[in-house]
Amino acid sequence: MSKERIAIYPGSFDPVTLGHLDIIHRGLEVFDGLVIAVATNVAKKAMFTADERVELIQEAVGGDPRVVVDHFDGLLVEYARDRGAVAVLRGLRAVSDFDFEFQMASMNRSLLPEVQTVFLMAGEEHFYVSSSLVKEVAQLGGDVAHHVPPGVAEALRIRIAERGGAR
Ligand code: COA
Repeated sequence: MSKERIAIYPGSFDPVTLGHLDIIHRGLEVFDGLVIAVATNVAKKAMFTADERVELIQEAVGGDPRVVVDHFDGLLVEYARDRGAVAVLRGLRAVSDFDFEFQMASMNRSLLPEVQTVFLMAGEEHFYVSSSLVKEVAQLGGDVAHHVPPGVAEALRIRIAERGGAR
């Protein structure tokens, strides 16, 4: 029997959106399994802790046995090697994603050539969605229910209320 082909889907996921879930569902049509890997991006100020982000993703993927949700520190390629992944999965929304993704994929390939980066195109309805925009809209009292899973909408509501409410 052929070996399972696992891909790592890394990101900040602060928080996970329906756009990310769209890439996860598409990724599961290509790979046997996915490891959704929550990274700590030091350049970004997170609203949710890594553990909270992992929990929100777990709830959103609903216990699919082909999906593992984890948190990692350090280099993505080393994590991918440790996990025995054949690929890193990334979603492309618009041309503006390309420069950054091209740089990351090239750097990752120079570090670990045997792991491929595979890009899947996000659904058009998610082209303009990002975690920052979702947080900004929620913080200003806007409705983000069409862009995030229900658990995330609730977590945003609670976190924003803890911080003094929408303004
Ligand atoms: N739907 C909705 N939003 C999406 C999306 C999709 N399909 N795909 C990406 N995004 C958004 C994210 O929400 C995020 O929005 P934000 O900037 O408002 O938070 C943005 O696009 C890009 O985020 P993400 O995909 O999470 O990338 P990132 O820049 O936060 O993280 C890592 C990139 C984690 C993959 C990268 O930093 C990494 O590999 N880190 C590990 C350390 C390492 O190896 N560094 C060397 C890399 S060469």
